[in-house]
Order: sequence, then C-alpha cells, then structure tokens
Amino acid sequence: MIDPNPKNNGKGARELNKAGISVNIGLIENEARKMNESFIKFVTKRKPFVIMKTAISLDGKTATRTGQSKWISSEESRHYVHELRNKVDAVIVGVNTVLYDNPSLMTKIPGGKDPLRIILDSTLKIPLNARILADKNAIIATTPKYDREKKIALEREGTGVIVVKSNTEKVDLKELMNELSIRGITHIMIEGGSEVNASALEAGIVDKLIYFIAPKIIGGVDAKPAIGGKGIKDMSDVMNLKNVEIKQLGPDIVMEGYL
Ligand SMILES: NC(=O)c1ccc[n+]([C@@H]2O[C@H](COP(=O)([O-])OP(=O)(O)OC[C@H]3O[C@@H](n4cnc5c(N)ncnc54)[C@H](OP(=O)(O)O)[C@@H]3O)[C@@H](O)[C@H]2O)c1
Repeated sequence: MIDPNPKNNGKGARELNKAGISVNIGLIENEARKMNESFIKFVTKRKPFVIMKTAISLDGKTATRTGQSKWISSEESRHYVHELRNKVDAVIVGVNTVLYDNPSLMTKIPGGKDPLRIILDSTLKIPLNARILADKNAIIATTPKYDREKKIALEREGTGVIVVKSNTEKVDLKELMNELSIRGITHIMIEGGSEVNASALEAGIVDKLIYFIAPKIIGGVDAKPAIGGKGIKDMSDVMNLKNVEIKQLGPDIVMEGYL
C-alpha cells in the first residue's frame, strides 16, 4: 500500500523506483492496512484509533449484580488482552470500574510496555491509593466541576489531571480525543465499564470492537450489560460491525469487527 501520510504521498515508492528497485503496490493490501490501522487513522484524521474491548457472559453481562467481573473471560483471552495493552499507547476506564475492581491495567507480557492509564472521573472521586495510580503512569480526565482540593492532592502524588471542556455532566469524549491526539496518543483501548462503553459509542469515537464471549451465564436484570445507556429504539438504527473476524481462545469466542 502507498504510505497514507499526506506528507509522503508515495514518495518512498518513487525514491525506490528511481534507485532501480521495482515496487509493487497493493499486494496483501488488506493485511497491510490492518497492520497499520492506528497509523492510517492518525495520519489521515489526526485522531487516535480506538478499540473497545469487553468480556461478556453468554447472556451479555459484564459483571454480576454486585459488580464482580473477575473472571468472565478465560486465561487465554486475558493473555490476548495483555498483548493488546502492550500494543496500544493508552487504555481508558470509567471511575466506577476503578472503584469496583481496583485494577492496575498494566500488561503482563514479559518486557512489555505498560500503556498510559486514563480514568474518566467527572468530579475526582478516585481514591488516592487506587492501584491504577501506583506507578505514576496514569492521568485523570475530569470536567470543570472537579474537586479542587482533590486535584491538588492527586498532582502532589504525581498523577496528572486533564480538565476537559465539557458541556455535559460527564467527560466529553470527543474533546478528550482532541486533547490526547495533541499529546501524540494515537492508539487507545477502552476497557469499560458499561456506562463508558455506551458513551464512547454515542460519541462516535470507536473504530474497532473486540468482544470476548465466555460460555458462562450470569443472569439478573441488575447485572450490567456490555453497553449501558439508553440504547436504540428502532432496529433501523442498529450499529453493524464490518469485516468481522471470529476466533476461539480457550473456551471463549472472540469477535472483532469495525464500525
Ligand atoms: N467484563 C468487562 O469487560 C468489564 C470491563 C470493565 C468493567 N467491568 C465491570 O463494569 C462495572 C462498572 O461499570 P459501570 O457502567 O458501572 O461504570 P464505568 O463505565 O466503569 O464508569 C462510569 C462512570 O465514569 C464516569 N464518567 C466520566 N465521564 C464519563 C463518560 N463520558 N461516559 C461514561 N462515564 C463517565 C462517571 O462517573 P462520575 O460522574 O462520577 O465521573 C460514570 O458514572 C464493574 O462492575 C466492573 O467490574 C466489566
């Protein structure tokens, strides 16, 4: 494929041709595009490429009615998540997930690179001793109605806080994507929970979904589904995934597709 960076526009291939090296363009183009999907999005749209990853039970739940989600997916699936964390620049999580699960969201890949952790927290209710803040590689995205004293305390502990201009009660995700692209963050994985997943889809910032579907049943109307929010009213508004790929990891089915 031709380098999609408008700055280059096929310059590399032209230079190689000039030097007498023949260049065939378009061979295994689909594979090349997939391999470079985050780069392509960033150089053409100046926005990060966003994956939404979620683990669900067969009945579409991401946690029990008491908020427990460890572990819905298999060890093999979780290993794949660690590989993804090793690949992306940042992961995003909602503050409720931090309160329920107290995750670190690091990668366990030996020699791997932990992603920057971004927590959506409109008022800064995250505890100072949350595990996700321990390695000082996390920032909190908040709204202008944040708790002033807490911001000072977090910054004193080495945690960055970005105040995102937001017209709504919650962190404006489109605005956050602009902020992150200015900081050179090109590849992001959203790791839930249910409310964050819903607002990311609503904001139209998601490029790719990765669903781990485990052969387990949780049940209960109060157990959170993968996507919260209001949902659609009419089937004509349904979001269809494109270029869907399905594989199996341990007992789980993994479905990946693009919006
Ligand atoms: N199975 C899985 O893959 C998986 C993954 C993650 C979590 N979980 C489970 O999901 C549950 C938590 O999910 P949840 O739906 O309750 O909460 P959540 O999505 O983790 O967090 C939602 C909270 O984040 C804050 N927030 C700030 N900006 C936001 C925005 N733009 N959109 C949405 N939220 C924003 C809001 O709190 P403020 O208004 O206070 O800021 C909001 O209430 C836990 O039980 C956890 O175990 C499961």
